[in-house]
Amino acid sequence: MRRINGTALVIVALVGTLGALAFPVWSYTDRAGTGPANLAAGTVPTRWGPLTASDRDLIVRVRLAGLWELPAAQQALERAPSGAMKEAADHLIVGHTDLDKRVRVVARDLGVELPNQPNEQQQGWLNQMTAAGTGKEYAKTWANLLRSAHGKIFPAIGAVRNQTRNSLVRQLASDANQTVLDHITVLEKTGEVDFEAIANDSVAGTTASPTGPPPPAAGVSPPEAPALTPSGDIGTTSRPSPGAPGTVNTGRPEPEDPEAPPAEQ
Ligand SMILES: [Fe+2]
Repeated sequence: MRRINGTALVIVALVGTLGALAFPVWSYTDRAGTGPANLAAGTVPTRWGPLTASDRDLIVRVRLAGLWELPAAQQALERAPSGAMKEAADHLIVGHTDLDKRVRVVARDLGVELPNQPNEQQQGWLNQMTAAGTGKEYAKTWANLLRSAHGKIFPAIGAVRNQTRNSLVRQLASDANQTVLDHITVLEKTGEVDFEAIANDSVAGTTASPTGPPPPAAGVSPPEAPALTPSGDIGTTSRPSPGAPGTVNTGRPEPEDPEAPPAEQ
């Protein structure tokens, strides 16, 4: 009797130990707050791949960008004191008219509801532009509000472009990336962008120390870095960057008609 009890105790202890070891591994993927759980939360399957909450967020943000940038650009066509600002406004109108057609097709196919009004923050920016004085004050307000907004959506597009498993969202992120970079480029060409303010704004609230190589020492030249070249005699045909320097090639096939019925399931 004593022997049976002893053996049973050992078995119970062993099972308990194995269970305790296995539990964290087994439960890891289902635990709320972990990466896989966050990725799965709110994800729905579609014929173009899983559609996550971040995918839907990007779709809505692309639509929202057009909702405030179009009126902002139209205002500048009337009030802009320089040709460069009118040129930037032209790019904003053309870019967001195009992108809006694309995002409406994507939202229709994926069943995502789109807003029809700028959000409160964007409305505030539009009010600031409207209230700005003439000439230089208007130019500075206009260019910096727009440049700042583009700088915030730029990395968000990159993150979704990297992680999405949905082919429609992947294409939308590529298109939006080109358009946003084009808008950043033309806004900076106005000469009104305050890079100091953007740099300070981007680190506001951060506490981590900067990482990266040390600053150059005065009077010391670093060793020259040899050129990177492919080995062997290989023929290449591509170009490092399409389009003229300082321009973003936004050429792409015409968008589909967003009014057309959804593609068949
Ligand atoms: Fe834009």
